[in-house]
Amino acid sequence: MATTSLETKRASTARRAPSPPERWPFGHLGELKKDPIGLLLKARSAHGDIVRLKFWAMTAHLLSHPDFIQHVLQRKQTAYDKDLMPLRRLYPVLGQGMVTADGEIWQRQRDVARPAFHQREIQSFGPAITSTAEALVDRWKRLAASAEPIDVHQEMMHVALNIAGRALFGVDLKQEAIEASRVLNVIMEAGQRRVRNMVALPMIIPTSTNRQISRSRRALEKMIDRMIDQRLADTSDDHKRGVPDLFTRLLTEHDALEASRRSTQFYDEAITLLLAGHETTASALVFSLHLLGRHPRVMGMLREEARAVLGGRAAAIEDLPRLPFTRMVIDESLRLYPPAWIMDRNAVDDDEIGGYPIAKGSLLLMSPYVMHRHPAYWPDPERFDPRRFEKDEATKRPRHVYFPFSLGPRVCIGASFALTEAVMVLATLAAHVDVRLVDGHVLQLDPSITLRPKNGLPMFVRPLQYD
Ligand code: HEM
Repeated sequence: MATTSLETKRASTARRAPSPPERWPFGHLGELKKDPIGLLLKARSAHGDIVRLKFWAMTAHLLSHPDFIQHVLQRKQTAYDKDLMPLRRLYPVLGQGMVTADGEIWQRQRDVARPAFHQREIQSFGPAITSTAEALVDRWKRLAASAEPIDVHQEMMHVALNIAGRALFGVDLKQEAIEASRVLNVIMEAGQRRVRNMVALPMIIPTSTNRQISRSRRALEKMIDRMIDQRLADTSDDHKRGVPDLFTRLLTEHDALEASRRSTQFYDEAITLLLAGHETTASALVFSLHLLGRHPRVMGMLREEARAVLGGRAAAIEDLPRLPFTRMVIDESLRLYPPAWIMDRNAVDDDEIGGYPIAKGSLLLMSPYVMHRHPAYWPDPERFDPRRFEKDEATKRPRHVYFPFSLGPRVCIGASFALTEAVMVLATLAAHVDVRLVDGHVLQLDPSITLRPKNGLPMFVRPLQYD
């Protein structure tokens, strides 16, 4: 017997994934804007590993099961792309760089950049990381004399940008790192407003956000021009030997050595790499310092390892195998505060996940922040415990319950670089300075494009006595 349209409707409703109560007409959009992390955590804990959410006319599914996440990001990745409204709204900021692009434009960029991130190349970044970490320790020792707290978020952004400049682009940003970091921050925040606002007006309409984006984008393009000039003026042979570095690859690919040939796409790619190459690593270091400030016993263990391996010097890349605890601290910090706290994808076709239909054009949300706190995989999930990442412990968990760098073909291209940098900088700091939280300061999260501390993170630093 043929089913009536009412029966069909009932059947499809019954097959809908569970959903928190929604408000007409915007569904869960109000909660998403007010407290996105709270909404997602509550949705998972009340409704399970697949939850349907409604953002005005858009249907989304939050996935919190390792198989579902692997399905979207890896196994069936061609059925899910990044043609997403929030990313389209970021085009004036990042254009079609590697993070936002899809298809052939993305593939070409990934192919061009890949060799610059091979393990062998990352080894060659060692001296840049060591000397930047060394300079940071000297600076903090000087700042400690004033007995005022310092904003470790800003400090880490400068350090990570300096390292990205030297390691990936072969240029020394020096003092320009401070201004560059400010402009990158302005453009990220303005980009975030474009993503969050109900309506994003076209760039030709001079709203204050649009003007800020245009101004910052021009400043960044000029900065990249200066970086090229610096490279051209550099007569040392360093970046002409061996495998060409990332900047050389980008310049050659776009034939961009001459100013007249530089295209919007070239700047899109360079700005994306500069932003992606420092912002997240800086956040990973800031959250690690915050957690260490709250857990002096772990700080003590970290210091013991760092002192035993480094003595009074800064970490070199060869020290990495002897810094396993430092790496566990970083891993655990990336669990609790993953800088890329959410990933989204667009369903290119109809599909089914966990027995529920996924309609073409709907949104899939995968949040490392939520998944890394899933009590089925992480006992006492809020507890900071680096020992979770001891080899024996880590192998007890299913793969893909931990994915701070994503997985599949669009896994972070800079993951090894980021981990190398974070471990080296953290070990160097632990060996030389003590950090303490400011009494009464409460960490507030700013879950924008990336996760960062709201209003910075003030901490007291003190040189260690035995220095
Ligand atoms: C702790 C630091 C970092 C974290 C947590 C992180 C995390 C991620 C994640 C989760 C993605 C995937 C996003 C998605 O699929 O929607 C990604 C992509 C990307 N990351 Fe990272 N990242 C970090 C550091 C870096 C560094 C140092 C670079 C160096 C340039 C970098 C460059 C990129 C690029 C270019 C992509 C796009 C890759 C693609 O789509 O093919 N990241 N990152």
